[in-house]
Amino acid sequence: MISILGLGFVGLTTGLGFAKKGFKTYGFDISGERLNSLKNLIVPFYEPHLDEVLRETMNETFFLDTPFEEAIRSSDAVFICVGTPEKEDGSADLTYLLAAIEQIIEVETDRFQVIVTKSTVPPSTVSNEVIPFVLKKLKSNENRNVGFASNPEFLREGYCWEDFIEPDRVVIGVEDERSKEILDKIYKPFNAPVHYVNYSTSEFIKYLSNTLLSTMISYSNEMSMVADAIGNIDTQKAFRILHEDKRWYGSPAPMKSYVYPGCGYGGYCLPKDTAALVSISEKNGFRPPMLSANININSSIKSHLVDKIDGTIGYDEPLGILGLSFKPASDDVRLTPVKDIIELLFKKGFRNIYAYDPIAGTEFKKHYPELRINYIESLHEIVQKCDTLVLLTAWEEFNKNKELIKSKNLLDFRYAL
Ligand SMILES: NC(=O)c1ccc[n+]([C@@H]2O[C@H](COP(=O)([O-])OP(=O)(O)OC[C@H]3O[C@@H](n4cnc5c(N)ncnc54)[C@H](O)[C@@H]3O)[C@@H](O)[C@H]2O)c1
Repeated sequence: MISILGLGFVGLTTGLGFAKKGFKTYGFDISGERLNSLKNLIVPFYEPHLDEVLRETMNETFFLDTPFEEAIRSSDAVFICVGTPEKEDGSADLTYLLAAIEQIIEVETDRFQVIVTKSTVPPSTVSNEVIPFVLKKLKSNENRNVGFASNPEFLREGYCWEDFIEPDRVVIGVEDERSKEILDKIYKPFNAPVHYVNYSTSEFIKYLSNTLLSTMISYSNEMSMVADAIGNIDTQKAFRILHEDKRWYGSPAPMKSYVYPGCGYGGYCLPKDTAALVSISEKNGFRPPMLSANININSSIKSHLVDKIDGTIGYDEPLGILGLSFKPASDDVRLTPVKDIIELLFKKGFRNIYAYDPIAGTEFKKHYPELRINYIESLHEIVQKCDTLVLLTAWEEFNKNKELIKSKNLLDFRYAL
């Protein structure tokens, strides 16, 4: 049995989705108007399919008339789907969320139940806001036994029903077995990949998705402003032709491979072309903030990574660099981020740097003779020589020898292994 607090786009869809799958589901909303409309089988906003499912499940598996206390007492999971609007300072307003949680824990029951945050909340909210809030409130109530979970929702308005009932993935942040078992049962009938992660990772995944989307939109708008500044550019045609790039649709290097953290971009094209577009746009009177930030980030990621190495080993100990080229399957070392990282390591004081690359060693040595590195001929040798390894290019050879590499202290800055 499941209770849902908040019957907006997310909550109503969630409630009807669980009801359709056969779970006895109780819905609640503080808006009397919204509830009355639903009780009259009218969905109070436009969203295809929900009215049919509402008619089909009402008073069969979906209930809106059950007293709150009775519903909470018999629920194994309570999903919170209330709004989390933006506050004046930009932070998320958790007032509705915490008020809903308070209502739940005020109900006396000795049933174990999991409080699931489905509303979008910033990473660390369950750990640093929800759990301390509940523990403080329950201080004197030893009988109330609750678990916690974060279960962000990825549905799109207009496609709420399809997205919920046939999810491409389900993300659950959960850190105790009992709560996990309950959520496992609830999501089993959905036949979708269910990913169990910790609370903050699950919250982060939702923002990873939304901020990528907002960034792509702002990027596109910024580029339209660059085009306007330069003039005589058919922006519409340019973007439509951009969409024909085969990387959007799959191999050999799908677009998703660019949406992955690493050591920064390098090589012959991306650094110089990004810099050149910023420069010509500036000459035409428009300083593109995202592209300028993009160049700054490409530089600051390298010092960030070097700071992560600093302190893990002494400056005299052997430090093994895995990969020298700017990307795997290439011996191009022009503007490879590895060069900057090694330079920064020397500046920090590291004196004993070893490096191995399946094919780019000779090129690197030729291009950067000033870097006093010990070049190594094989992966086995560098693993033997160095207890700390830093992976900077995601070569397939490293993946094939994952176990060997991971037997050492590994800093995998390509998140590859
Ligand atoms: N709309 C989307 O496309 C979408 C997609 C994914 C995630 N989300 C997130 O899901 C959350 C809900 O979004 P929404 O669009 O469904 O919001 P919404 O405003 O449509 O619905 C929220 C509902 O919660 C009700 N509510 C507030 N406090 C309550 C309480 N204590 N008890 C019961 N009901 C209460 C409100 O009356 C309202 O009807 C937000 O955090 C949002 O960011 C939204």
